[in-house]
Amino acid sequence: MARRKKIYEGKAKILYEGPEPGTIVQYFKDDATAFNAEKRDVIEGKGVLNNRLSEFFMTGLGTVGVPTHFLKRLNMREQLVRQVEIIPLEIIVRNLAAGTMAKRLGLEEGEALPRPIVEYCLKDDKLGDPLVSEEHIFAFGWASQQDLDDMVALALRVNDFMSGLMYGVGIKLVDFKIEVGRLWDGDFQRLIVADEISPDSCRLWDIETGQKLDKDVFRRDLGNLADAYTEVARRLGVLPANATPIIKPTLIN
Ligand code: C5P
Repeated sequence: MARRKKIYEGKAKILYEGPEPGTIVQYFKDDATAFNAEKRDVIEGKGVLNNRLSEFFMTGLGTVGVPTHFLKRLNMREQLVRQVEIIPLEIIVRNLAAGTMAKRLGLEEGEALPRPIVEYCLKDDKLGDPLVSEEHIFAFGWASQQDLDDMVALALRVNDFMSGLMYGVGIKLVDFKIEVGRLWDGDFQRLIVADEISPDSCRLWDIETGQKLDKDVFRRDLGNLADAYTEVARRLGVLPANATPIIKPTLIN
């Protein structure tokens, strides 16, 4: 039996060559890392939850007309996605002050921002994904002005969709990160949402209690990460309503 070809292994996912040209199999690992992988652990069930949650968010985005790389879920840990050229920038959208922005600007965590604020970081683990400006992006050719306009438009549409979806289940979308890929169609290109959208890449706070339901639970040692992600999945109807905090999540189709 032929072994499939691994294209890339990151901190939380592995990418394999897909069955058709232009496709990739994205495998979600249980590994959790923070602070540029200085802190790491294996959280049993995390990969299964993120696979299912990312499918749920990307499918929903597709329904409202936001293009994504998602094609279909293959099994508990894998999904088939379109192969894209990843633009080497992380696009962060913030609705409330938190994390590195609160620290950098001396803001209270949870302070409402006057409007959604978009930030860009260079995707470079060795440098710790530094914050960069538009000037850097254009001068170093990481993206064109048109690319950046399209990326910001995509990120703000994701913000509107995800904020509403989360509000509906009693959760505030504090901030999130997306990655964007370039898809070629002959001589034409379009930009689509790639990578993953999951509690690994968002800050999610319970509206009533302020409880954190995202990767900060791991970053700040606030409890069991799989329990937090299970709660998000349960509220969104991705897991059955009676799912107890579990080690090995049960999927519904
Ligand atoms: O750490 P910081 O406050 O800059 O993170 C902002 C948002 O972007 C958070 O939701 C965080 O989970 C996400 N993020 C990410 N991957 C990174 C950096 C930030 O998903 N490498």
